Amino acid sequence: MTITTIILAAGKGTRMRSQLPKILHKIANKPMLQHVYDMSRQLENNTIKIVYGHGAELVREKLKDLDATWTEQAEQLGTGHAVQQVIDQFSDADIVLILYGDVPLLKVTTVQKLLKDAGENTLGLLTVKLKNPTGYGRIVRNQNDKVAKIVEEKDATTVEKTINEVNTGIIAVNGRHLKKWLGQLTNNNTQGEYYLTDIIEMAVSDGVEVMTTQPESADEVLGVNNRVQLSQLERVYQAEQAIRLMEQGVTLIDPARFDLRGTVDKLGSDIEIDVNVVFEGNISLGNNVRIGQNTIIINSVIGDDVEILSNCVIENAQVGNGSRIGPFARLRPETVLADHVHIGNFVEIKKSTVAHGSKINHLSYVGDATVGSKVNIGAGTITCNYDGANKFRTIIEDGAFIGSDSQLVAPVTIGKNATIGAGSTITKDTPEDQLTLSRVKQISIAGWQRPIKKEK
Ligand code: UD1
Ligand code: CA
Repeated sequence: MTITTIILAAGKGTRMRSQLPKILHKIANKPMLQHVYDMSRQLENNTIKIVYGHGAELVREKLKDLDATWTEQAEQLGTGHAVQQVIDQFSDADIVLILYGDVPLLKVTTVQKLLKDAGENTLGLLTVKLKNPTGYGRIVRNQNDKVAKIVEEKDATTVEKTINEVNTGIIAVNGRHLKKWLGQLTNNNTQGEYYLTDIIEMAVSDGVEVMTTQPESADEVLGVNNRVQLSQLERVYQAEQAIRLMEQGVTLIDPARFDLRGTVDKLGSDIEIDVNVVFEGNISLGNNVRIGQNTIIINSVIGDDVEILSNCVIENAQVGNGSRIGPFARLRPETVLADHVHIGNFVEIKKSTVAHGSKINHLSYVGDATVGSKVNIGAGTITCNYDGANKFRTIIEDGAFIGSDSQLVAPVTIGKNATIGAGSTITKDTPEDQLTLSRVKQISIAGWQRPIKKEK
């Protein structure tokens, strides 16, 4: 079976009240259209066609990597008109699957079920029963309970409006039939639009049976028309991901206060995640990882037995086994920490490697540095890596001890087991095993008087 998926994505989305086309609005930091695309990518023997329109240039630019054929529907004259734009892009023998770009939570398992219903003499229609069907097309059945047609809300009689089985818009249909029916659509209706839904009645009169399937949950077919619905779908999506993680053995202290905007590619056992933790991009977590409150982790690899305390921001970093980070630490891109490294509060690390067992516990900036093993960097140490134009590296060899409040003016190398006296400004390489310090001698002035304010 060859499938052609047509994603309808030309609609305006007026109620979003946005400059951004609706389908570029994001669920879990990914455009809605990309969600639909990614889902349909999972189908075998499938080519994807996207009908776009509103915000055309921006849509094409933002989603240029999608492996799909793009067709512009310059004027949005209805869902039937949208499908007509790609009528010569599928063949008679194809099963054509119609999806909506603003229905982002549809599951591939539901689509696979629907596809089973589509054949030479049958059409698959995804419907759902809603407590409040207002706004949707209603599924009208005959006395034998077979689908007879779909009637849009605006064209429905009072009796038809009481029907609570509605059209999700998602259809799987034989290509040859679809071509024929698309040619017969008219816009004789209240909205003056070419309704794709009119093909249902045509199918029935051509003796093609309309088979209905329901999604596992009505959430799957919820569309987004405004930002309230966008936020609701975000929560549905996040809740599902949280459940999946918990099923895989992760403790989430509060699943409602955890957000995954990407994927967890590797997941160890016995991971505990406290409240307000956000993951973005691709995350890998080892065994026995604990993550404290309010921490954000982006595209990073966290080893085994790692403790990340609260309020950390970790991006494009690697954290080795047994390390402890935070609270209030920031690991910026290209930070690579080996095993048993301690990074404490108000420490920023950027583009640096820190070898086994080293500690940077308080108020430091370490950028463009290579830090050896068992190094101790005292509070308030700064690598001066930037002269306003160029960046330079600092090398701190194994076993070095950097006294508090030191500035290491790069390029500079601190030798093995060297000690730097507190408050030093180091501008030249320092020898191994020695104490180096740059400090004005301390003096005391006897008889000195502190200035006194004059009485007014
Ligand atoms: C449509 C269905 C309705 C169904 C509902 C489910 C029709 C006539 N009606 O109604 O039965 O209950 O979806 O949500 O099909 N689009 C285009 N080009 C157009 C018009 C629409 O690409 O010219 C796209 C939109 O971007 C959207 C989808 O098609 O992704 C549905 O369009 P929308 O206007 O939301 O359809 P409804 O009127 O809600
Ligand atoms: Ca409409």
